[in-house]
Amino acid sequence: MILEFKQTSLRSSPDKLIVVFVHQDKRLFKSEIAALSKKLGIRVQAAEAGDFTGKHGESVILYSDRKIVRRVILVGLGEWNKLSAETYRRAAAGAARKAHTLKERRITMFLPASKANAASVAAAFTEGALLGLYKFDKYISKKSDAPQPMEAITFCSEGRAGLAAIQGAMKRARVISEATILARDLANAPGNEIYPETLAEAARISAERNGFAATILDERAIRELGMGGVLGVSQGSARPPRFVVLEYGDKKKRPVVLIGKGVTFDSGGISIKPAAGMAEMKMDMSGAASVVGTFEAISRLKLPVHVIGLIPAVENMPSGSSIRPGDIIRHFNGKTSEVDNTDAEGRLILADALGYAEQFKPAAVIDLATLTGAVVVALGHHAAGMLGNDETLMSQLERAGTSTYERVWKLPMFEEYERLIKSDVADVKNVGGRWAGSITGAWFLKKFIGAYKWVHLDIAGTAILEESGYYTQKGASGFGVRILTEFLTQWK
Ligand code: BES
Ligand code: MN
Ligand code: ZN
Repeated sequence: MILEFKQTSLRSSPDKLIVVFVHQDKRLFKSEIAALSKKLGIRVQAAEAGDFTGKHGESVILYSDRKIVRRVILVGLGEWNKLSAETYRRAAAGAARKAHTLKERRITMFLPASKANAASVAAAFTEGALLGLYKFDKYISKKSDAPQPMEAITFCSEGRAGLAAIQGAMKRARVISEATILARDLANAPGNEIYPETLAEAARISAERNGFAATILDERAIRELGMGGVLGVSQGSARPPRFVVLEYGDKKKRPVVLIGKGVTFDSGGISIKPAAGMAEMKMDMSGAASVVGTFEAISRLKLPVHVIGLIPAVENMPSGSSIRPGDIIRHFNGKTSEVDNTDAEGRLILADALGYAEQFKPAAVIDLATLTGAVVVALGHHAAGMLGNDETLMSQLERAGTSTYERVWKLPMFEEYERLIKSDVADVKNVGGRWAGSITGAWFLKKFIGAYKWVHLDIAGTAILEESGYYTQKGASGFGVRILTEFLTQWK
């Protein structure tokens, strides 16, 4: 899709559909409507009648009988004082979706006046439009009357300032949006297409395309390294495990290590899950998908950082060779865990990766995992649970989360929770009972970290969506790519 910025007037757009954004504040609204009326020579009856008042989320289609502009989508942005990047993402997504359903393939969006700088407005519009248009539809046979993909979106403004900055910001936003879409595609892909070998292959393809390194460890190498968690969880599956090591950037710098849970399908194993909703567990490798997406983004953006990516990839299945409740596993760092429930498998594979991370002498380690249903109970779909051992690192992530709107919320790691995962027969038990499931999950992981700063993001609720949002669709959101790329952009 072509995505560009032009400094032109409303009148001179060649497209048959243009989008105009207006604010709700009465005087501003009036003047914006008047300007629109004048420039396009149309009456905005919806505004005159009070049917359209510029409220956030409101939109109306106007028709003109002029030769070129046939349709104008008028979109409300709400009040001037409440504007944010998120307002623009939502508004752009709504307009792009509307234009798409109207089967327009080339549209112009006229960027609104803003107190934010034009480059950041253009970036938010880019993200909103690209992410909003995403749909996981490659398995749906195309009907001849279905809307075709968008061909071009042109952002326009009459102002003359900062063309290069605007184009640069749009380029960056596009790279990050495309990386998010890669993560969505990987996570949405069904379990018969994405399994450990093909997940590893997807990471390798991205590495080859973008010039970062990918090493794929097979089952034998995993055994030789003593990764008992990865081996144990995968042993019931016909699909062998993989362990992927990615590396990008300046090796002279101490790296940030990103770890992504890569359970390509989580049936629960012998502690099998109920049938209802089990299909969602094809997205249990969302953390891994977002690590791959983040590598795609940072390598395309050439960020001046050193990043290692670790992806333990397994399928969790019940069979005669499955790991059993009561089994005891020895992990990479030599510690043992008692498997009380085979459905608490994510932490078993992450334990190996957290141990493996130590050799890189990381400046920080961040793991992303669809780890617990409990975090969905606690925070729903609008914030990831954040737990860790370093306040500074957590506040850096919190800031990156706020600006990208991939928000995180801290949960406590009080020492009293630790005893809930005490085992009588091993160093630790993989479940902590009914309460505080996300916290006991994090406490399990903490047992396996090295002497480094660490943050765990439980993305079970934010990565897997039950319904569509402003610029997300039901299914995989790609959560993690935007917050991590922003975090690494700010990383010194
Ligand atoms: N992958 C699931 C967690 C999950 C649940 C992700 C819902 C997304 C939506 C994880 O492996 C799991 O099964 N966790 C168990 C842990 C329990 C057995 C301690 C859970 O949350 O029930
Ligand atoms: Mn599970
Ligand atoms: Zn799982």
